[in-house]
Amino acid sequence: MIVGVPTETYPNERRVALVPAVVPMLSRIQVDTVVQAGAGNEAGFPDQLYAEQNAQIAKSREEVFDSADVVLQVRGPGANADAGKDDVALLKPGQVLIALLDPLNALESARELAKKGVTAFALETVPRISRAQSMDALTSQATIVGYKAVLLAAEMLNKIFPMMMTAAGTITPARVFVVGAGVAGLQAIATAHRLGAVVQGYDIRPDVKNQVESLGAKFVQIELDTEGAEATGGYAQAMGEEFYKRQRELLTNVVADSDVVITTAAVPGRKAPILITEEMVKAMSPGSVIVDVAAEGGGNCELTRPSETVEEFNVTIMGPTNLASSIPLHASQMYARNQLSFLRNIVKDGELNLDMSDQVTRDSLLTHNGEVVNNRVREMLDMSPLDEESMKEGSES
Ligand code: NAI
Repeated sequence: MIVGVPTETYPNERRVALVPAVVPMLSRIQVDTVVQAGAGNEAGFPDQLYAEQNAQIAKSREEVFDSADVVLQVRGPGANADAGKDDVALLKPGQVLIALLDPLNALESARELAKKGVTAFALETVPRISRAQSMDALTSQATIVGYKAVLLAAEMLNKIFPMMMTAAGTITPARVFVVGAGVAGLQAIATAHRLGAVVQGYDIRPDVKNQVESLGAKFVQIELDTEGAEATGGYAQAMGEEFYKRQRELLTNVVADSDVVITTAAVPGRKAPILITEEMVKAMSPGSVIVDVAAEGGGNCELTRPSETVEEFNVTIMGPTNLASSIPLHASQMYARNQLSFLRNIVKDGELNLDMSDQVTRDSLLTHNGEVVNNRVREMLDMSPLDEESMKEGSES
């Protein structure tokens, strides 16, 4: 079996799907690697490092797609709206694709991949179960995002984060408020705490209180009925507008008292909820900073402009997108380990072994044998659900 690693083509994407250190680990499961020349350059992995691990270097993108049984990408079609379409044209029937594919938003792309006969796995839908933790690319990349969000805020803020008692007087620590304590939020809390800030965290899922506190932050408790706020898989459930309105009211004072607000609140497959309004921004002190990590999904702050930094009412509002790509070496290293674990789960004796009774395979498989097979995506496309039996049959044909 040959895995192929083309250069990422999403604008400003610096990550690569596979790092040299993983190449020999793949050899051990009888998988050879072909890498497009220059694919790892931006992440800090020149061709020579891949060649030293016995990967073959392909001169062109076409050569990678031609020779690979399995194509590995960071942002595959769907998660790479424009250039991704060119890759769909290069993919062949029966070829396997493993990548981030933004399956809950890029519905047309799923149809295209199915039409092409590609067996596509979307890493976003790997289930949040213990056994799949090592394959969970959303988690690995969100870890980088949470860390970097704090660095961006620290760079922008007109204050330092830690308390300092100096001969020139005592400096009080910055107050950081992290809204949404999922993977990115918890990492942001930990990073801000390490830098010496006084940190508060909040999430709609009350269960995270202990996690927030274990990282040295205070959990902001608000009087809100959060029953039903947690969906299956630990994700947040979309709530009604009345709920968000009340939530904003109750968070107003905490936001106003913070120097930095980092928002990470997301609901999979939905636009990010608005948790910070223009009024709330107005009430913040001049020089405060908001880093809206949810910018890619529309943003948690009403004034966020995705991929831009704006100043409104003397508050800096940053809407970074694709943050993981800004720390490409470690982001790629972790992503490549996710890919390796995923491959180990579906490759047996150097052959593809699709076991539809395996939850990881079933949940992450987006298209197979000419069909969109993920039932959540099918529902969004108004297609009738597939039962487990018909999926099993599909995998055998
Ligand atoms: P995410 O990126 O989908 O959302 C970020 C956070 O925003 C979540 O914690 C969510 O509850 C919160 N949020 C949504 N709406 C909100 C609102 N209106 N106000 C405040 N907060 C709001 O979440 P992420 O980081 O992907 O984590 C989702 C869940 O998956 C968590 O429970 C996490 O612990 C769990 N998880 C489990 C893993 C495993 O068992 N293998 C691996 C990684 C995460």
